[in-house]
Amino acid sequence: MSVIAVIGAQWGDEGKGKIVDLLSEQARVVVRYQGGTNAGHTIVNDLGTFKMRLIPSGIFNPKAICVIGNGVVVDPGALLVEMDELEQRGISCARLLISERAHVLMPYHVLLDQLEEQQRSEGGVGVGTTKRGIGPAYQDKAARIGIRVGDLVREEALLTRLSFVLNHKNQILTRLYNAKPLSLHQVYLQMVDYGHRLRKHILDTQLVLYRAMDEHHNILLEGAQGALLDLDFGTYPYVTSSSPTAAGACLGSGIPPSALDNVVGVYKAYCTRVGDGPFPTEIEGEAADYLRSQGGEGHQEYGTITGRPRRVGWFDAVAARYAARLNGIGGIVITRLDALDTLPILKICTGYRVNDAVIQHIPSDISVLQQVEPIYEEMPGWQTPTTAARSLADLPEAARAYVKRLSALIVARIDMISVGPARDQTIVLDRPFDSLPNIVGKYVGAVGEHNWGE
Ligand code: GDP
Ligand code: IMO
Ligand code: MG
Repeated sequence: MSVIAVIGAQWGDEGKGKIVDLLSEQARVVVRYQGGTNAGHTIVNDLGTFKMRLIPSGIFNPKAICVIGNGVVVDPGALLVEMDELEQRGISCARLLISERAHVLMPYHVLLDQLEEQQRSEGGVGVGTTKRGIGPAYQDKAARIGIRVGDLVREEALLTRLSFVLNHKNQILTRLYNAKPLSLHQVYLQMVDYGHRLRKHILDTQLVLYRAMDEHHNILLEGAQGALLDLDFGTYPYVTSSSPTAAGACLGSGIPPSALDNVVGVYKAYCTRVGDGPFPTEIEGEAADYLRSQGGEGHQEYGTITGRPRRVGWFDAVAARYAARLNGIGGIVITRLDALDTLPILKICTGYRVNDAVIQHIPSDISVLQQVEPIYEEMPGWQTPTTAARSLADLPEAARAYVKRLSALIVARIDMISVGPARDQTIVLDRPFDSLPNIVGKYVGAVGEHNWGE
C-alpha cells in the first residue's frame, strides 16, 4: 500500500490531470483535496477527452473510489453538470463520494468574487482570479459562516444557518457594492434540491480513507493549482485561497502526514502562469505567441475553463527547487516536453540577480520578486518530434540532456516524462506506486540512476 500526493509544482496547469489519470490505474481511492471550479484538468485517454473541474481524475478507473475531500469548495450546480456530462458519455459516477465537511460554494460567492476583483483592480491590486467564487468561499470557511455539504441534507439546520448568512451577504451586496440582494427562498430551495440530488454521494469520507489504509490499498491525492499559488508559500497576494501543497493534501483529505509515502511534483518543461503576479522568466511578444501555440490542437496554452491565454516563460529552476523543498517532492514528472520540439535554443533560469546579489529562493517580499533579473544558462534544442517517444532511448540526445539538467537543478529524480496529452504519450522511468515507501521528509537530493545514454 502507498499514499501518494500528486501536486502541481509551478503556477498550475502543469498537466496534473493527465498524470493522475495515468496513476489512477494503480489506485483504489483517488481524492481531490482543495480548490474548486477554478481548476481545469484535461485528460485524454481511450474514452475520449475530458476537462475535469471538481471530480477527481481517477473517475475513469472503474475500480477506483473517487472522493471530493473536505478541503474542496464544492459548487453543487457545477458538480451536477460535470456528473451528468460524464454519465452521458458512459462514465459512471456511482463511485463518487463527497465529504460532508467540504464547504459549499454558494451563489453569493461567485457574485462577491466578481465584485471584489473589480474593486481590487480599480485599486491597482487585482489578482486576476478565475471569478468562480473561490476566495469568498474560503473566507467564509475561515470566518465560520460557511455552509457545508453535510448541511445540504439537514434541511432545518440549513434554513436557520442560511437565513443568518444570506442576510449578512445581502447587506454586503447591497450596501457595499450597490448590487441586488439574493432571495432566501430561492437560494434555500435550490440548495435543498442539490442536497436531494447529491444525497447518496455525501458522507464522512475520512472513514472511507481510514478503511482503505487499514486494508492496505493505494491512495492517490490529487492537487489542483500549484505550489506557487499556495496561500502561504506562493507569490502572495497573487495566489489562490487554498493550500495546493503536500501539507494541504493531508489537511484537505484527513490523511495524516505520517501516512504520506511520496509526493510527486508535476512540472512543465517550461513555465506558464494565468492571472496577475510576478513571473521572472516570462517571455513576451512573438516568441511567447509561438510557444503558446505549441502542444497540439486543443492543447495550446489557453486556460482550460476560462480560455484566457496563459503567460509563458522559460523553465525557472529557482522556483522549481523551492517547490521541491516545500513539498518534499520525491519524484518529478516533466510534462509538455514536446512543446519545445521546434525551438533551437532553450533557456533555464538558475538564479535571480537582485541589485548586486544573487538569490536562489523565492523571496517573500513580492516587490523583490517583481524586480529580480533571471540568470540563464542555455542548452541546445533538439528540433525533432518527441511525441512518439516511449523510452529515454527514443528521445533525441539534446532532449535527454535537457531533462537530466532539470532533474539535477530541482534535485529530485525523474519518474515520468510526458510527450503529448494522451495517456500513453508518457515515458515511465519509475512508477511512483512501486517506489520505496516513506521517503517524504528524507529529502536526500538523489537524482536517480536512470540510463541517460552517455
Ligand atoms: P492541469 O490543470 O495541471 O491538469 O493541466 P491542464 O489540463 O489545465 O493543462 C495542461 C494541458 O496540457 C492540457 O491541454 C493537457 O491535455 C496538455 N498536456 C498534458 N501533458 C502534455 C504533454 O506532455 N504534451 C502536450 N502537448 N500536452 C500535454
Ligand atoms: P489547475 O488546477 C492555473 C490562478 C488564477 C489567479 C489565481 C487566483 O487547472 O492547475 P482563484 O480563482 O483561485 O481565486 O484565482 O490563481 N488559478 C489557476 N491558474 N491553474 C489553475 O488550476 C488555477 N486556479 C487558479 O488565474 O491567478
Ligand atoms: Mg488546469
